[in-house]
Amino acid sequence: MTEIRLETRALRRHFGALVAVQEIDFKLAAGARHALIGPNGAGKTTFINLLSGALPASRGRVLLKGNDVTDKTQAERVKLGIARTFQINRLFRGLSVLENVCISIAERVGAAPSMFYPVGRRTDVIDEAMHLLDVLKLASNAAHRVSELPYGRQRLVEIAIAIGLKPEVLLLDEPAAGVPSTESHIILDAIERLPEHIAILIIEHDMDVVFRFAKRVTVMVGGALFAEGTPREIEANPQVRAVYLGQASRG
Ligand SMILES: Nc1ncnc2c1ncn2[C@@H]1O[C@H](COP(=O)(O)OP(=O)(O)OP(=O)(O)O)[C@@H](O)[C@H]1O
Ligand SMILES: [Mg+2]
Repeated sequence: MTEIRLETRALRRHFGALVAVQEIDFKLAAGARHALIGPNGAGKTTFINLLSGALPASRGRVLLKGNDVTDKTQAERVKLGIARTFQINRLFRGLSVLENVCISIAERVGAAPSMFYPVGRRTDVIDEAMHLLDVLKLASNAAHRVSELPYGRQRLVEIAIAIGLKPEVLLLDEPAAGVPSTESHIILDAIERLPEHIAILIIEHDMDVVFRFAKRVTVMVGGALFAEGTPREIEANPQVRAVYLGQASRG
C-alpha cells in the first residue's frame, strides 16, 4: 500500500457566500509527482493555501503523515515538513540569492540571524546554501541581488528557498508563471531533479509540463474535485476535455 504524506478530509473554505473549496477528500502519496489542474478560479490556489496553512479552513481536516495539522499555523507546518512556493514570488528582492537561501536554511536549523550572530558567519549554512544553488544551477548568481535577476531565475530562487527547508511535501503554485517560454524549461528541469522522496503537488496550466512531469493528475472545477487519474486517463477523459483541456494550452 502506498504511504500517504498529506491528506484532506472534507476540507472546505468559503469567502462569504462563495464556496472556493468544497468538501475535498484528497491524498498525496509519498514521493508523489502530482499535478492539480483546472480552469481559472477553480480553487486550486485556495486549496494549496489550506494545505500550507496560509488560510484557515472553514471546515474539514488536513493531515500530515496521519497527524492532524488543521489547527497549526503556516510556520508550524513548515517546521513539520510542508513547504511551498507562491503564484507570485515573495523574495527579499534587495538581498542576494545566497542570502535569501541562507535565511531559509538558517530558519530550519534554528540559526535565525541576529545582530550578534549574522548568518554570514555560519559556514555550515553557507555551504549548504551553495550546494543547493549548485544543484539548481544558480551558483553563478549567488552574489547577485534578486532584483537584478531575470524573472525565471527569481522563480528558481523561490524553489531553492523551499528546498532549503528540507520539506517532505512541496507545494508549487504555478512555478513558471510569468516566465518567458524560452526560460521556463530551466524551472521544469530543476523541479525534475528534486529529491525523489519529496512529495510534490504542482499547480500548472501548461499541459506539456503536466504531462511530462506528473504521474498523477487531479482536475478541480468550481471548488470541487472533478477527476483524478494518470495523465493518460485524464487526457482521454471526455468530460475533462469538455470542461478544461479543450481550452488549456497544449503546444
Ligand atoms: N481572499 C479571497 N477573498 C475572496 N475570494 C477569494 C479569495 N481568494 C480566492 N477567492 C475566490 O475563490 C475562487 C478560487 O480562487 P483561486 O485563486 O483559488 O483559483 P485558482 O484555481 O487558483 O485560479 P487561477 O488558475 O486563476 O490561479 C475564485 O472565485 C476567487 O475569486
Ligand atoms: Mg491560482
